[in-house]
Amino acid sequence: MLKPGTTTVTADADHTANLWAFIRGGFVPLAEAQISVTTHAFNYGTAVFEGIRAYWNADEEQLFGLDLLAHYQRIHRSAKLLHMTVPHTPDELVRLTVELLRRDGLREDAYIRPIVYKSSESIGVRLHNLESDLTIFAIPFGKYIDTEVGIRAQVSTWRRTDDNAIPARAKLTGSYVNGSFAKTEAQLNGFDEAIMLNQDGHVSEGSAENIFLVRDGMLVTPPVSDNVLEGITRRHLMDVAGDLGIGVIERSVDRTELYSADEVFLCGTGAQLAPVIEIDRRTVGNGKPGPITRRLHKIYFDAARGRMDAYRHWLTPVY
Ligand SMILES: Cc1ncc(COP(=O)(O)O)c(C=O)c1O
Repeated sequence: MLKPGTTTVTADADHTANLWAFIRGGFVPLAEAQISVTTHAFNYGTAVFEGIRAYWNADEEQLFGLDLLAHYQRIHRSAKLLHMTVPHTPDELVRLTVELLRRDGLREDAYIRPIVYKSSESIGVRLHNLESDLTIFAIPFGKYIDTEVGIRAQVSTWRRTDDNAIPARAKLTGSYVNGSFAKTEAQLNGFDEAIMLNQDGHVSEGSAENIFLVRDGMLVTPPVSDNVLEGITRRHLMDVAGDLGIGVIERSVDRTELYSADEVFLCGTGAQLAPVIEIDRRTVGNGKPGPITRRLHKIYFDAARGRMDAYRHWLTPVY
């Protein structure tokens, strides 16, 4: 059975037998979606990907894909950086994903993983003169990190990669070694998550999440030019904050602002909205998720599950 865990998902053959993947232009059983060890992307990390959630609404017996179009627009932008052409428009990719989820027949929360990868079986460091292919698969998926009690974070000793080295703006598979260094360091040190600084020493983001602080009733988040992924959840939460009349300031954030913030939370497709209650052994606020975090948390989860008409446009029904 594919099991959602706090940080990992493990699979066994029984359950994957019922799942499908799109690869090389067609649908095949997930277990048959294989690539060669000589594939360029496997050797050099030359692929771009997305992480997308679909939420099961038991009352409506409906599975809702969350902002599929925004994810596929972003994968197009990421692919362009790697000199790749995605063989389908964002709208076509939405339709392919709906078809995949219908084939999988999932009646629970799911995580969708599209990857556009350099598929040439070729050795040599470069981005040009290589073929590319698209694969998409989905797995049942619960929480990635705690979203209720709050997590304990550490400012990482690993710096976020710079735009002039490996751009954080694009979801490049190879660049996730950077976040992996930070996440593993944090967890081996007994924390739940890492917060990374950029090369200037300003706060950038978590290992796989954007970050928000609350100061004096306003949200503060690093700008997209501070080496962060231009997160879709980040954008949604900024829109929700606007609808609630909560101000949002995008500006560079110093490390020590983390220690004096009233509230801090991380957000992303995987993490959803995770309150941070401790950073570098300093309590954030009163050590519990704060009022603005809780308000946004409730709206985000209700909206994602199709329980808020105002945000229904984020969702694509699968069935
Ligand atoms: C490095 C990084 N930052 C931020 C995010 C959040 O982005 P999104 O909300 O689009 O999932 C992610 C998650 O995908 C990520 O990997």
